[in-house]
Amino acid sequence: MTKATTTNSGAPVPSDNESLTAGAQGPILLHDHYLIEKLAHFNRERVPERVVHAKGTGAFGELVVTGDVSRYTKAALFQPGTRTESLVRFSTVAGEQGSPDTWRDPRGFAVKFYTTEGNYDIVGNNTPVFFIKDPIKFPDFIHSQKRLPGSGLRDATMQWDFWTLRPETAHQVTWLMGDRGIPATLRHMDGFGSHTYQWINEAGERFWVKYHFKTDQGIKTLTQAEADELAGKDADYHRRDLYEAIERGDHPSWTLKVQIMPVAEADNYRFNPFDLTKVWSQQDYPLIEVGRWTLNRNPANFFVDIEQAAFAPSNVVPGIAFSPDKMLLGRVFAYADAHRYRIGANHAQLPPNRAKAAPVNSYSQDGAMRSGHNAASVPVYAPNSFGGPHADPARAIDDGAWAFDPTMIRAGYVTHREDNDFAQAGTLVREVMDDDQRDRLVGNVAGHILGGVREPVLSRVFDYWKSVDAELGKRIEVAVREQL
Ligand code: HEM
Repeated sequence: MTKATTTNSGAPVPSDNESLTAGAQGPILLHDHYLIEKLAHFNRERVPERVVHAKGTGAFGELVVTGDVSRYTKAALFQPGTRTESLVRFSTVAGEQGSPDTWRDPRGFAVKFYTTEGNYDIVGNNTPVFFIKDPIKFPDFIHSQKRLPGSGLRDATMQWDFWTLRPETAHQVTWLMGDRGIPATLRHMDGFGSHTYQWINEAGERFWVKYHFKTDQGIKTLTQAEADELAGKDADYHRRDLYEAIERGDHPSWTLKVQIMPVAEADNYRFNPFDLTKVWSQQDYPLIEVGRWTLNRNPANFFVDIEQAAFAPSNVVPGIAFSPDKMLLGRVFAYADAHRYRIGANHAQLPPNRAKAAPVNSYSQDGAMRSGHNAASVPVYAPNSFGGPHADPARAIDDGAWAFDPTMIRAGYVTHREDNDFAQAGTLVREVMDDDQRDRLVGNVAGHILGGVREPVLSRVFDYWKSVDAELGKRIEVAVREQL
């Protein structure tokens, strides 16, 4: 039997065809509350899009721990054999909600684990490094990559102006302009936690850690020409590919690995290990297997499960803490704040964000759209004498710890012996890329610059690339000048 259409409050409605009017030609009556409900609710269908990473897609899955990293962390989700339900949202960074999936951009790789000790989020990208290393630069960086205030157009001069005035961007920009800047699908790219995090084991020992999600599908990328064509044909190409793969039972997976650095080695490592523009060499710190992470379920409702999903680097669990990476520390503030604005104070109670495997016994209460609550008998303040939840001082170890000079200062990172803005970018060009990849890099950069970079930025762009690699820089300059 067909179900009766109802109002949002469950009462049957007479029509989805005609509004209530005074006679067939008469005015619409204000007391047609069903019409009003439809129009008014429609007007409120959107929440603000994410200020960055607005275009994305996601799926559910699980992490199964196959390795043994218990000597580095006591975190329940990483103990041998543990299975943990998970949610991911992949995204581009600069494009708006309807923008093409195949634009050249880093891809967001935001993973939520519903652990038995609370939700743990790794809010990473498909690159191991980032453009900048201090959070105070983030709004300027993003403004330069988005749109001009007057014309509403994106602007290559603005992008390169920022990048060249901030040479710490060189490593990430080299990644971005290379083949990995446009993945063939979301299934064919790696993910990275990017930052250095802190792990704490049962004995209270600490380690520095970096996360790598290695795609089991293999890396595949698109050329600029392929991506441009797809952008016109199917703006949702990546979203569609992931959805269809999961629907047909072709469940993509990644092997989760970590690099571990003993705390005592950080001070003397050749690069500052907390600088987000640098990687740790895998010769120095080899990858250690943690487990297999598989995506096996599509969202039942895109808006509820993906648009309202809220990933935050502040969602950590016992055995995992932060590091002196200033970007990470800035992000620990930024995300939950964005969620309170974008979704609301009670975003943590929505289905994708709710702690599914851990009890929530918090003293926060009320606020817009509150749905969950403690029993009426639970006191609403701490401390109390009536059996309410109590904070456990033994958990202070999970705040993590590191030694630092307590002088208040605005300064860059402590420079380690091989630190400089261009060195790792140069290594990427000379030692990781082959001739074909270098050729495409030249073509991609030249094509991007020819998109309209004006002086004085143009000359600086050539110097920037010559600092990455002299030969590469010369080739880019020749390629651009030939076509100007
Ligand atoms: C999204 C801020 C750096 C990865 C966001 C959002 C904000 C933000 C406000 C929107 C959140 C929302 O509305 O749900 C910042 C700031 C940064 C920074 C202030 C630097 C200080 C980074 C870095 C990475 C990253 C370094 C990766 C390593 C992401 C991802 C998302 C995101 C993946 C999308 C999350 C989702 O799918 O919902 N960022 N971000 N961000 N950011 Fe950042």
